[in-house]
Amino acid sequence: RADLSDLIAAGIRDIPDFPKPGVTFKDITPLLATPEALRAVVSAVAEQYGTDGVDAVVGLEARGFILATPIALELGAGFIPVRKAGKLPARTLRESYDLEYGTATVEMHADAITPGSRVLIVDDVLATGGTGRAAVELVRRAGGTVVGFSVLMELAFLQGRDQLTDVDVHALTVV
Ligand code: PRP
Ligand code: MG
Repeated sequence: RADLSDLIAAGIRDIPDFPKPGVTFKDITPLLATPEALRAVVSAVAEQYGTDGVDAVVGLEARGFILATPIALELGAGFIPVRKAGKLPARTLRESYDLEYGTATVEMHADAITPGSRVLIVDDVLATGGTGRAAVELVRRAGGTVVGFSVLMELAFLQGRDQLTDVDVHALTVV
């Protein structure tokens, strides 16, 4: 998979001190803007989960939406959004998780998942694992089976995987 790794490496740039001093932001916008790289990433994830009978792909607002929808199309599955609190109009399930300062809350429509359906969760980055953990809980509370949690990039030094030991975590690249 030399091609895929090269395309990913070339498409992600480090932005120092963003959004605050001491943090290095992994900017995936060059990758998204490169047709071959976008194609390769979507194909690789669809290939990984192609035989798992995925019924629905859950994307995590905002950056997870970008990859989740084409992956859903490729898998012949539907797309379901997990959104930041207060955005979804119908009845929701909510999960909160700790941030460095304070908490974050995400929501999913309570009727979004047909109980028993097989769900792939997609996001761009796995960092501390809070977002992914919350999404897994939402899917399970709704009666779905989590087939996997797929990310473009895992920041291993933040040990997010430790929060997701009960889930098949798949990262296309680990830094
Ligand atoms: C970023 C990233 C992941 C999440 C990973 O999203 O896109 O969703 O953080 O971090 P965690 O593993 O520590 O939870 P962010 O909340 O910054 O917002 P965005 O996707 O809307 O830009
Ligand atoms: Mg995000």
